[in-house]
Amino acid sequence: MAELLSKGLFITFEGIDGCGKSTQMLKLSEYFNSKYIPYMILREPGGTVVGEKIREVLLDKKNDGMDPICELLLFEAARAQIVSEVIRPSLDSGMTVLCDRFFDSTYAYQGFARGLGSGTVEMLNKTATSGLKPDITFLFDLDPVAAFERRGIRGEAEDRMEALGLKFQEDVRAGYLDLASKESDRVKLIDASRSPEEIFEDVVRIVDEKVNK
Ligand code: ADP
Ligand code: TYD
Repeated sequence: MAELLSKGLFITFEGIDGCGKSTQMLKLSEYFNSKYIPYMILREPGGTVVGEKIREVLLDKKNDGMDPICELLLFEAARAQIVSEVIRPSLDSGMTVLCDRFFDSTYAYQGFARGLGSGTVEMLNKTATSGLKPDITFLFDLDPVAAFERRGIRGEAEDRMEALGLKFQEDVRAGYLDLASKESDRVKLIDASRSPEEIFEDVVRIVDEKVNK
């Protein structure tokens, strides 16, 4: 375990808005605490000073006239910054990195739901990350109506992306499922309709399998 973790494991969390990513990230961070495994938690877009400014622009509902290509490039711009400034140096120093969303979000949201196409997105993803890929990607699959109800309980105001509505979330979900079918080794499809505890059993088993490989 120590040998692999000395390289730093890169774990990303994906799924539609409100699918339970943050909840599972928190549980995994508690697990790592109990094992004395050094880790950091990041989110996309954001995680750097530049990235947090880009995040504000992207999620601000006042920017509802944003061109889809502008949106795509802003997500990629924030990504380039977090990869070079934080993620690569952290992994190199042996830190495990947990990231709330990464390039698969762009595949599902911009490539699929916005209809910009997987070719363009994959090319830009590669440029922004200089080829870095997660070791494990958890995809928490959930019906958008259930996710919407969960978000309602959370009681937060909708951001610009969430305001796109249920049909958009259905398209995002379809994009993610398409991805999972193409990259089943890396992308771990998890049934997120279950209890947090049941879901976490899968998460921890998959992490342990990777660590002990
Ligand atoms: P995300 O980070 O994907 O937006 P959260 O983890 O914040 O999702 O979860 C959204 C809401 O759903 C929160 O109120 C959270 O407490 C709740 N929640 C998370 N996981 C589950 C679950 N498995 N079952 C029921 N509610 C959940
Ligand atoms: P965030 O609050 O981080 O997500 P969540 O609601 O799941 O907690 O908001 C980020 C929003 O940006 C979310 O709706 C997904 C969207 N997004 C994209 O459209 N493309 C991307 O590449 C990324 C990283 C996020």
